[in-house]
Amino acid sequence: MTPVDVSQIAVDQLTADEADRELARLAKEIKKHDALYHAKDAPEISDADYDALRRRNDAIELKFPLSVRSDSPSKRVGAPAVAGFKKVRHAKPMLSLGNVFSEEELEDFLAGIRRFLKELSDPAQVLEMVAEPKIDGLSISLRYEHGKLVQAATRGDGEEGEDVTANARTVADIPQSLPVGVPDVLEVRGEVYMSKADFFALNERQEAAGEKPFANPRNAAAGSLRQLDSAITAKRPLKFFAYAWGEVSAASWSMHNDFLDRLKAWGFIVNPFTKLCRSVADIVAHYTLIQNQRASLDYDIDGVVYKVNRLDWQERLGFVSRAPRWAIAHKFPAEKAETIVQGIDIQVGRTGVLTPVARLEPVTVGGVVVSNATLHNADYIQEKDIRIGDRVRIQRAGDVIPQVLEVVDDGRHASRPGYEFPTVCPVCQSHAVREEGEAATRCTGGLVCPAQAHERLIHFVSRNAFDIEGLGGKHIVNFFDDGLIKTPGDIFRLNAQMLTGREGWKEKSIQNLIAAIAAKRTIDMPRFVFALGIRQVGQATARLLAKQYGTMDRLRTAMQDARVIGSEALEELLSIDGIGRAMADDLVEFFAEPHNREVLDDLLRFVAVEPFIAPSTEGSPVAGKTVVFTGTLETMSRGEAKAKAEALGAKVSGSVSAKTDILVAGPGAGSKEKKARELGVRVLNEAEWVALIGG
Ligand code: IVH
Repeated sequence: MTPVDVSQIAVDQLTADEADRELARLAKEIKKHDALYHAKDAPEISDADYDALRRRNDAIELKFPLSVRSDSPSKRVGAPAVAGFKKVRHAKPMLSLGNVFSEEELEDFLAGIRRFLKELSDPAQVLEMVAEPKIDGLSISLRYEHGKLVQAATRGDGEEGEDVTANARTVADIPQSLPVGVPDVLEVRGEVYMSKADFFALNERQEAAGEKPFANPRNAAAGSLRQLDSAITAKRPLKFFAYAWGEVSAASWSMHNDFLDRLKAWGFIVNPFTKLCRSVADIVAHYTLIQNQRASLDYDIDGVVYKVNRLDWQERLGFVSRAPRWAIAHKFPAEKAETIVQGIDIQVGRTGVLTPVARLEPVTVGGVVVSNATLHNADYIQEKDIRIGDRVRIQRAGDVIPQVLEVVDDGRHASRPGYEFPTVCPVCQSHAVREEGEAATRCTGGLVCPAQAHERLIHFVSRNAFDIEGLGGKHIVNFFDDGLIKTPGDIFRLNAQMLTGREGWKEKSIQNLIAAIAAKRTIDMPRFVFALGIRQVGQATARLLAKQYGTMDRLRTAMQDARVIGSEALEELLSIDGIGRAMADDLVEFFAEPHNREVLDDLLRFVAVEPFIAPSTEGSPVAGKTVVFTGTLETMSRGEAKAKAEALGAKVSGSVSAKTDILVAGPGAGSKEKKARELGVRVLNEAEWVALIGG
């Protein structure tokens, strides 16, 4: 007996058994056509036939709800973006850029390059810079192997992003394959964006469908690219400009503008307002040109990026923390608007600082609706004499929090009462005090202030710290207020039983949270140090500390030893470039505080902190050595010498001690050389040093 062809049976004639078979067939069939359409860009059936398959699937599911498959196509399209893209580690980190806001700052930046590259100290030497618009989208890294697109990843925190390959394949500007002759491994980086026209059209569709409109094209692009269902991304008109590269098996270009030409030849779109500039005047002229074009462009830009054209110079210039020394973003001036201050709220941060925030009558500034603006501190409010009810001018620059610039007198300003900064914490009612010489007013509630505790925990799980998926600020506050979590260690003590029965928590979400927490039982040292929320210790400082001390054990011991003024430990801490006296005090104080030590001990029972592995300096003759430079260097600047030595794993110090391994002495060296010789430290001249490190 030939099996019945279930695909020919009308929905209302199907038996349950036949419905199961037909749903299985449809799931497979629809999946195949999705792949042909989105991934391969080669549909085999018409849109109408495709829709008919989906309609049949929906109709059967309606009639046989118990037969709905876990992989049903109906669960895919239209599914909201929920947890879970695969994480991808970038082969080369995706960096950010420093900013300048004026011609003067730009000149300082260029002068810095000229100081770093000694041969450029001669002003007659040309420093070529490529100027390109800074696209206001989201950056993405596209990995091609043997000319085929194999992976697309978002920037994420720069080290690790999200795998959005299926979605990137739906973007027409992103080539699926490249012409023969491209490097075997080639990562092309650039900006995914949405045009203004497409953004407005999309918002109209969103609103017509009763969905929330996007705030701006950038958000729309990000929301579209980060869809778990690539069928949705495919319907969103995303575009792409290429401007950089990551890992490359063989780079055959030596100039940035050569590379941009290659990109075009390979089929990428390079922004047409890209220009090679040979002088500051050239750069400024191009900046002005782009600024004048800005309003008429069909996409948002927020500045102009300048990049050193010569790649050997880029290489030598290297990076300072997360930003290259060879590139900078010249941001457009902030956009301004006027509105009314409806109230002043006080926020209490994790270190107890009371930050006044103006609650504003909502106003659109450069395409974004603004309803809050920072007022910084008590002095700021007093200086500007900002009063509730006042009309004020505000500004918004890029991603930073909007600011109140000044009061616009509406004739009634003087009749309003002046603002009195609170003298008690609005959350815990403890005294709020302002110490001599400090701008900040702090809540003295310390451990008893729930606002500080909330903020510390929220910081602990935040994206650049423990990054625990599914554990947002609201949950933290909720769990804290119910006594489930008081300290970071408590997060790791959470179990399914404790969460069962809580409002909004189902079995699946509980399981996911427990798994997300368990996944963070091993963590890298910079994140861990950042997560502790030590005053003034941001990501860059956390990284410096991890690099200097290598392990948490060493860091803790060193910070405890550094309590002694004049100790070697304190000297070592202060020798770190980027750590000053005030920050050192905060660090030492943090590790001296018994409660912090307890919290840390408790946390370390659950969490393994990976020792910091500095980028491999294997084979480097100076790895781990302490080097001091003195006198004049002839072939390179002090800055370049230091950067090079550090890249090879050496520690560069400013003073000679028994711990110094090598002193590099140029002409004019004085007391340092004398001291080094007395101590028996190895002394090299510049040529010998260059020979030692291999040029
Ligand atoms: S170059 C090492 N070029 O700006 C330098 N970035 O603030 C890597 N961006 O994350 C970036 N347009 O998302 C570069 N023409 C351009 C750009 C650009 C926009 C974004 C990019 C990056 C951010 C840095």
